[in-house]
Amino acid sequence: MSGILNKLITFEGVDGCGKSTQLSRAAAWLRGLDKEVVTTFEPGDTPLGKEIRKLLLAGDFVPVPEAELLLFLADRAQHVRELIQPALKSGAWVLCDRYSDSTLAYQLAARKLGDGAANLQEMLDFAECGVRPVLTLWFDVPVDEAMRRMKKRAKAGETATRLDDEAVSFHERVSAAFKQQYHDEPEQMLRIDAAQGMDAVEKQVKRVLKHRFGMSA
Ligand code: TYD
Repeated sequence: MSGILNKLITFEGVDGCGKSTQLSRAAAWLRGLDKEVVTTFEPGDTPLGKEIRKLLLAGDFVPVPEAELLLFLADRAQHVRELIQPALKSGAWVLCDRYSDSTLAYQLAARKLGDGAANLQEMLDFAECGVRPVLTLWFDVPVDEAMRRMKKRAKAGETATRLDDEAVSFHERVSAAFKQQYHDEPEQMLRIDAAQGMDAVEKQVKRVLKHRFGMSA
């Protein structure tokens, strides 16, 4: 990342926390302030990643936890090299829906791959190709509320992914892991109270970004 101004902001949280809506709103707001903004997501926002996403989430295959981890990391490396690094190089703000904190929460904690943890950090570093976010927003919402939102989406016709369908206990472990990451790195990860309504959450996001980066308006 040397020589590139780091403007990568990642959006994290349990499934159903509302981060994707907030990412779109934040992007629109920043564009209104004349900032160049690239929005992206994991897994699946490159041509190769799209195929990896299908393998991971469509439910045709159930990878063992180790294979699941490696597929997420393959998607990340491709994403960083093909999309994120060039966007940062061009001077854009990059708003990314999920990144390495999701791998730590879902694979390390929820899938209990913790025994390999010493290696996992090195593997994450390798897959990220040195690209770390300047800031991570954690959308904190109780798991029962997140599940309620996901059920509502399913009723509205949205297809659930293989991971959406995991047991509540899995989502509880994901949630606890994000909380732990927030406690471990309070400067890097900022908490957004995502249990509030969408407009109130949007206000929090803007406040945080204004405060951290001095954006006016
Ligand atoms: P997606 O449909 O994009 O959902 P969301 O809007 O909640 O992000 O699904 C992505 C899923 O992949 C989500 O359940 C989290 C999971 N995931 C991991 O398990 N590990 C990872 O490293 C990443 C990036 C995502």
